[in-house]
Amino acid sequence: MRLKIYGTGSALPAKKVSNDLLSEYMDTSDEWIRSRTGIVNRRLAMEETTSSLAVEAGRKALEDAKAAPEEVEIVIVATFTPDCSLPSTACIVQDQLGLTHAVAFDLNAACSGFLFALNTVQAYFSAGVYRTALVIGAENISKVVDWKDRGTCVLFGDGAGAALCRAEDGAACNFVQKSDGSGGAVLSLKERPIAHLFRECDEKPGKMYMNGQEVFKFAVRKVPECIHEVLDLAYLKPEEVDWYLLHQANKRIISSVAKRLGIPEEKFPTNLEEYGNTSAASIPILLDEVNRKGMLKEGDILVLSGFGAGLTWGACLLEW
Ligand code: UT7
Repeated sequence: MRLKIYGTGSALPAKKVSNDLLSEYMDTSDEWIRSRTGIVNRRLAMEETTSSLAVEAGRKALEDAKAAPEEVEIVIVATFTPDCSLPSTACIVQDQLGLTHAVAFDLNAACSGFLFALNTVQAYFSAGVYRTALVIGAENISKVVDWKDRGTCVLFGDGAGAALCRAEDGAACNFVQKSDGSGGAVLSLKERPIAHLFRECDEKPGKMYMNGQEVFKFAVRKVPECIHEVLDLAYLKPEEVDWYLLHQANKRIISSVAKRLGIPEEKFPTNLEEYGNTSAASIPILLDEVNRKGMLKEGDILVLSGFGAGLTWGACLLEW
């Protein structure tokens, strides 16, 4: 059994924030952000929440796939910025979309979350447990970045993307997923200080910390490596792939991956210019955009690849 995507959707907050607007609030510039990252704008949630964005993206994916809510047997939301710890964002989505027959849970693999969730669904499909799944990546990162850390806060944005997947006969799609917890310190978020009945603590909730250069070095090494690995599993060469949909963190990382694979950058669509890095949401938002623009043909080979905190990284090869 293989996983096939039948519909996609995405949702973005209404508030658009340009580099120029940020430079009115901190010591930065459009020139610095654009030249180091490719980012020009990002969307920041004002009234929207992780769950409201996830619900909107999920609803659009169901509509695009012409799927009835009762058909969905599992919904996974990949996020590291849920509205609340309990209930999970996936349970909120299940309730609000009327997915009455679906089991629902969240998954946190940071920016690799959407890929890890897709792989989880593929495993359920292969085992014959479920046949229809809604996979969502949704984030509200603006609430956890340190707005005094200009090296990090300018990179991120909020949003959600979703894919309605069904199990089909045929060769399984291929996945490579990896983790290295020893690299956890380079990108971290310690939200809750330890305080309870027997331990007082006046620390404030933590903010996101990132060593950008270390993450950059890790990404340009590991992303091409895992793409080669997933291509080997499918006995395909880099040039046989129609589209590479990479995690939208930095244009320079994407260009470096394209160069290392020897593939023209035209095969690497981007939207980080408009939305910045939306972590687990970045790949499904991009997938929805290329789908709605009519860029994907039946039978196209897609490679999705991402990397992020944990450390985590991975790649997925799908037939459209
Ligand atoms: O989903 C995974 C998420 N993470 C990533 O993908 C991050 C990967 N890393 C990167 O994208 C890059 O490392 C950054 C864009 C974060 C930083 O680019 P860089 O070329 O590595 O810059 P840097 O950190 O070496 O900083 C260079 C200079 C420093 O000034 P000095 O020390 O040379 O005087 C920084 O203080 O740029 C300064 N700087 C800024 N200047 C203006 C840092 N942030 C800013 C800023 N505006 N926003």
